[in-house]
Amino acid sequence: MKLLHLSDPHIEPNMLHGIDSQLRFKKALEHIKINHFDSDLFVISGDITHFGSKDAYKIFLEIIKKVDLPKNLFPKLIIGNHDNRENFKQYFTETKTDENGFIQYSETFENKFFIFLDTNEPQTDSGYICEDRQRWFKNELEKGKDKSIYIFMHHNPLALANNSSDKIGLVQKNEFEKILLKYNKNIKHLFFGHQHITVSGQYLGITFSSPRSTWSPLVSNFSNKYRLGTANTDPNYNVVLIKENSLVVHCEDFLKTEVNWFEGD
Ligand SMILES: [Fe+2]
Ligand SMILES: [Fe+2]
Repeated sequence: MKLLHLSDPHIEPNMLHGIDSQLRFKKALEHIKINHFDSDLFVISGDITHFGSKDAYKIFLEIIKKVDLPKNLFPKLIIGNHDNRENFKQYFTETKTDENGFIQYSETFENKFFIFLDTNEPQTDSGYICEDRQRWFKNELEKGKDKSIYIFMHHNPLALANNSSDKIGLVQKNEFEKILLKYNKNIKHLFFGHQHITVSGQYLGITFSSPRSTWSPLVSNFSNKYRLGTANTDPNYNVVLIKENSLVVHCEDFLKTEVNWFEGD
Protein backbone atom coordinates (compact mmCIF):
# COMPACT_ATOMS: atom_id res chain seq x y z
CA MET A 1 0.00 0.00 0.00
CA LYS A 2 1.22 3.49 -0.86
CA LEU A 3 -0.04 6.30 1.32
CA LEU A 4 0.51 10.05 1.04
CA HIS A 5 0.69 12.11 4.22
CA LEU A 6 0.65 15.88 3.78
CA SER A 7 0.13 18.33 6.61
CA ASP A 8 -0.39 21.94 7.56
CA PRO A 9 -1.05 23.66 4.22
CA HIS A 10 -2.43 26.73 6.13
CA ILE A 11 -4.38 27.99 3.12
CA GLU A 12 -5.29 31.69 3.22
CA PRO A 13 -6.49 34.22 0.66
CA ASN A 14 -3.37 36.32 1.37
CA MET A 15 0.37 35.78 1.83
CA LEU A 16 1.32 34.48 5.27
CA HIS A 17 4.62 35.59 6.80
CA GLY A 18 5.96 36.28 3.32
CA ILE A 19 5.08 32.81 1.97
CA ASP A 20 2.30 32.01 -0.50
CA SER A 21 0.66 28.97 1.13
CA GLN A 22 -1.65 28.43 -1.86
CA LEU A 23 1.25 28.30 -4.31
CA ARG A 24 3.21 25.85 -2.19
CA PHE A 25 0.19 23.59 -1.75
CA LYS A 26 -0.40 23.65 -5.51
CA LYS A 27 3.24 22.71 -6.10
CA ALA A 28 2.92 19.80 -3.67
CA LEU A 29 -0.18 18.57 -5.52
CA GLU A 30 1.55 18.94 -8.90
CA HIS A 31 4.44 16.88 -7.54
CA ILE A 32 1.98 14.24 -6.36
CA LYS A 33 0.30 14.25 -9.76
CA ILE A 34 3.60 13.58 -11.55
CA ASN A 35 5.02 11.05 -9.08
CA HIS A 36 2.38 9.45 -6.89
CA PHE A 37 -0.96 9.16 -8.64
CA ASP A 38 -0.66 5.40 -8.12
CA SER A 39 -1.13 5.87 -4.35
CA ASP A 40 -3.96 4.19 -2.46
CA LEU A 41 -4.71 6.84 0.13
CA PHE A 42 -4.03 10.56 0.60
CA VAL A 43 -4.38 12.17 4.02
CA ILE A 44 -4.07 15.84 5.00
CA SER A 45 -3.64 16.03 8.75
CA GLY A 46 -5.02 19.42 9.68
CA ASP A 47 -4.29 23.11 9.72
CA ILE A 48 -5.95 23.06 6.33
CA THR A 49 -6.40 26.82 6.73
CA HIS A 50 -4.64 29.42 8.87
CA PHE A 51 -7.61 31.37 10.22
CA GLY A 52 -10.42 28.88 9.55
CA SER A 53 -12.36 31.29 7.33
CA LYS A 54 -15.00 30.11 4.86
CA ASP A 55 -13.07 31.83 2.06
CA ALA A 56 -9.98 29.78 2.86
CA TYR A 57 -11.90 26.46 2.79
CA LYS A 58 -13.43 27.49 -0.52
CA ILE A 59 -9.98 28.19 -1.99
CA PHE A 60 -8.63 24.91 -0.61
CA LEU A 61 -11.48 22.96 -2.20
CA GLU A 62 -11.02 24.76 -5.54
CA ILE A 63 -7.30 23.91 -5.56
CA ILE A 64 -8.04 20.24 -4.81
CA LYS A 65 -10.72 20.04 -7.53
CA LYS A 66 -8.42 21.61 -10.10
CA VAL A 67 -5.78 18.88 -9.69
CA ASP A 68 -8.37 16.34 -10.79
CA LEU A 69 -7.25 13.63 -8.38
CA PRO A 70 -8.37 10.05 -9.00
CA LYS A 71 -11.49 9.38 -6.90
CA ASN A 72 -9.66 7.22 -4.36
CA LEU A 73 -7.14 10.01 -3.79
CA PHE A 74 -9.58 12.71 -2.76
CA PRO A 75 -7.87 13.54 0.56
CA LYS A 76 -9.09 12.23 3.88
CA LEU A 77 -9.17 15.34 6.03
CA ILE A 78 -8.88 16.10 9.72
CA ILE A 79 -8.73 19.47 11.41
CA GLY A 80 -6.01 21.20 13.43
CA ASN A 81 -5.80 24.09 15.86
CA HIS A 82 -5.89 26.63 13.02
CA ASP A 83 -9.13 25.23 11.60
CA ASN A 84 -12.72 26.07 12.37
CA ARG A 85 -14.88 22.98 12.81
CA GLU A 86 -18.19 24.56 11.77
CA ASN A 87 -16.79 26.35 8.72
CA PHE A 88 -15.02 23.14 7.67
CA LYS A 89 -18.28 21.18 7.86
CA GLN A 90 -20.03 23.61 5.50
CA TYR A 91 -17.55 22.82 2.71
CA PHE A 92 -16.81 19.17 3.38
CA THR A 93 -20.24 17.72 3.86
CA GLU A 94 -19.06 14.22 2.94
CA THR A 95 -16.41 14.05 5.68
CA LYS A 96 -17.88 11.93 8.43
CA THR A 97 -18.34 13.08 12.02
CA ASP A 98 -18.93 11.16 15.25
CA GLU A 99 -22.17 11.23 17.26
CA ASN A 100 -21.06 14.42 19.03
CA GLY A 101 -20.20 16.31 15.86
CA PHE A 102 -16.41 15.93 16.09
CA ILE A 103 -14.67 15.39 12.76
CA GLN A 104 -13.42 11.90 13.50
CA TYR A 105 -14.08 8.68 11.64
CA SER A 106 -12.52 5.39 10.62
CA GLU A 107 -11.95 3.65 7.30
CA THR A 108 -11.09 0.06 6.45
CA PHE A 109 -8.62 -0.61 3.66
CA GLU A 110 -7.98 -4.31 3.01
CA ASN A 111 -6.83 -5.64 6.41
CA LYS A 112 -5.98 -2.17 7.70
CA PHE A 113 -8.08 0.03 9.95
CA PHE A 114 -7.44 3.77 9.80
CA ILE A 115 -8.65 6.02 12.61
CA PHE A 116 -8.79 9.79 12.04
CA LEU A 117 -9.01 11.90 15.20
CA ASP A 118 -10.27 15.42 15.89
CA THR A 119 -7.97 17.16 18.43
CA ASN A 120 -9.14 20.72 17.78
CA GLU A 121 -10.32 22.84 20.70
CA PRO A 122 -11.51 26.39 19.95
CA GLN A 123 -9.44 29.27 21.40
CA THR A 124 -6.27 27.26 21.97
CA ASP A 125 -3.37 25.94 19.91
CA SER A 126 -2.99 22.92 22.20
CA GLY A 127 -4.57 19.60 21.32
CA TYR A 128 -7.59 18.17 23.13
CA ILE A 129 -9.13 14.75 23.35
CA CYS A 130 -12.02 15.22 25.76
CA GLU A 131 -13.85 12.33 27.43
CA ASP A 132 -16.39 12.07 24.61
CA ARG A 133 -13.65 11.84 22.03
CA GLN A 134 -11.70 9.36 24.16
CA ARG A 135 -14.79 7.16 24.42
CA TRP A 136 -15.28 7.22 20.66
CA PHE A 137 -11.57 6.46 20.12
CA LYS A 138 -11.64 3.43 22.46
CA ASN A 139 -14.72 2.14 20.72
CA GLU A 140 -13.05 2.38 17.30
CA LEU A 141 -9.89 0.68 18.58
CA GLU A 142 -12.09 -2.15 19.82
CA LYS A 143 -13.78 -2.36 16.38
CA GLY A 144 -10.42 -2.58 14.61
CA LYS A 145 -8.65 -4.94 16.95
CA ASP A 146 -8.60 -7.82 14.46
CA LYS A 147 -6.83 -5.61 11.94
CA SER A 148 -3.64 -3.53 11.73
CA ILE A 149 -4.53 -0.10 13.08
CA TYR A 150 -3.11 3.23 11.87
CA ILE A 151 -3.92 6.52 13.59
CA PHE A 152 -3.97 10.01 12.10
CA MET A 153 -4.23 13.10 14.32
CA HIS A 154 -3.14 16.72 14.05
CA HIS A 155 -1.40 17.25 17.40
CA ASN A 156 1.66 15.39 18.62
CA PRO A 157 0.56 13.03 21.43
CA LEU A 158 3.98 13.09 23.09
CA ALA A 159 6.52 15.88 23.69
CA LEU A 160 8.99 15.80 20.81
CA ALA A 161 11.90 17.09 22.91
CA ASN A 162 11.04 18.23 26.44
CA ASN A 163 7.72 18.28 28.28
CA SER A 164 8.38 21.83 29.48
CA SER A 165 8.69 23.20 25.94
CA ASP A 166 5.72 21.29 24.52
CA LYS A 167 3.13 23.99 25.11
CA ILE A 168 1.02 23.22 22.06
CA GLY A 169 0.99 19.42 21.98
CA LEU A 170 -1.84 17.21 23.20
CA VAL A 171 -3.01 18.23 26.68
CA GLN A 172 -4.42 14.83 27.69
CA LYS A 173 -1.12 13.00 27.16
CA ASN A 174 -1.64 10.68 30.16
CA GLU A 175 -5.16 9.66 29.18
CA PHE A 176 -4.06 9.11 25.59
CA GLU A 177 -1.10 7.03 26.73
CA LYS A 178 -3.37 4.75 28.76
CA ILE A 179 -5.54 4.12 25.71
CA LEU A 180 -2.55 3.44 23.47
CA LEU A 181 -1.04 1.03 25.99
CA LYS A 182 -4.13 -1.12 25.84
CA TYR A 183 -3.97 -1.44 22.05
CA ASN A 184 -0.27 -0.99 21.25
CA LYS A 185 0.02 -4.51 19.83
CA ASN A 186 -2.54 -3.66 17.12
CA ILE A 187 -1.53 -0.06 16.42
CA LYS A 188 1.12 -0.11 13.70
CA HIS A 189 1.84 3.59 13.28
CA LEU A 190 0.85 7.04 14.49
CA PHE A 191 0.78 9.90 11.99
CA PHE A 192 0.58 13.54 13.03
CA GLY A 193 1.51 17.07 11.87
CA HIS A 194 1.23 20.36 13.78
CA GLN A 195 4.86 21.11 14.74
CA HIS A 196 5.92 21.64 11.11
CA ILE A 197 9.03 19.49 11.54
CA THR A 198 10.08 16.18 10.02
CA VAL A 199 10.27 13.79 12.91
CA SER A 200 9.95 10.05 13.48
CA GLY A 201 10.45 7.63 16.33
CA GLN A 202 8.72 5.21 18.60
CA TYR A 203 6.27 5.69 21.47
CA LEU A 204 4.96 2.88 23.69
CA GLY A 205 6.17 0.40 21.10
CA ILE A 206 4.35 2.24 18.29
CA THR A 207 6.31 3.95 15.53
CA PHE A 208 5.33 7.49 14.51
CA SER A 209 6.13 10.06 11.84
CA SER A 210 5.30 13.61 10.92
CA PRO A 211 6.01 15.66 7.77
CA ARG A 212 6.79 19.37 7.73
CA SER A 213 4.14 21.82 6.71
CA THR A 214 3.74 22.45 2.98
CA TRP A 215 3.49 26.13 3.95
CA SER A 216 6.19 26.95 6.54
CA PRO A 217 8.69 24.40 7.87
CA LEU A 218 10.04 25.09 11.37
CA VAL A 219 13.14 23.88 13.19
CA SER A 220 13.18 21.55 16.19
CA ASN A 221 13.23 23.09 19.66
CA PHE A 222 15.58 21.28 22.06
CA SER A 223 15.44 23.95 24.76
CA ASN A 224 13.33 23.71 27.90
CA LYS A 225 11.16 26.65 27.01
CA TYR A 226 8.59 26.95 24.25
CA ARG A 227 9.83 28.71 21.15
CA LEU A 228 9.38 28.49 17.41
CA GLY A 229 11.92 29.18 14.69
CA THR A 230 12.43 28.84 10.97
CA ALA A 231 15.52 28.38 8.86
CA ASN A 232 13.63 28.58 5.57
CA THR A 233 14.04 24.84 5.16
CA ASP A 234 12.27 23.11 2.29
CA PRO A 235 8.65 22.12 2.88
CA ASN A 236 7.75 18.47 2.30
CA TYR A 237 5.14 15.74 2.43
CA ASN A 238 5.62 12.05 3.22
CA VAL A 239 5.19 8.96 1.08
CA VAL A 240 4.58 5.87 3.19
CA LEU A 241 5.09 2.37 1.79
CA ILE A 242 3.29 -0.27 3.83
CA LYS A 243 4.08 -3.92 3.14
CA GLU A 244 3.25 -7.04 5.08
CA ASN A 245 6.28 -6.81 7.36
CA SER A 246 7.40 -3.23 6.95
CA LEU A 247 6.41 0.43 6.91
CA VAL A 248 8.84 2.91 5.30
CA VAL A 249 8.40 6.69 5.42
CA HIS A 250 9.97 8.80 2.65
CA CYS A 251 10.12 12.61 2.67
CA GLU A 252 9.37 14.34 -0.62
CA ASP A 253 10.96 17.80 -0.88
CA PHE A 254 8.51 18.78 -3.58
CA LEU A 255 10.12 22.12 -4.48
CA LYS A 256 13.15 20.17 -5.71
CA THR A 257 11.94 18.98 -9.09
CA GLU A 258 15.24 18.66 -10.97
CA VAL A 259 16.32 15.02 -10.58
CA ASN A 260 19.64 13.77 -11.89
CA TRP A 261 18.99 10.02 -12.23
CA PHE A 262 22.20 7.99 -12.45
CA GLU A 263 20.93 5.90 -15.30
CA GLY A 264 23.23 4.17 -17.77
CA ASP A 265 26.21 3.99 -15.34
FE1 LIG B 1 0.25 24.15 11.45
FE1 LIG C 1 -1.24 22.98 14.26
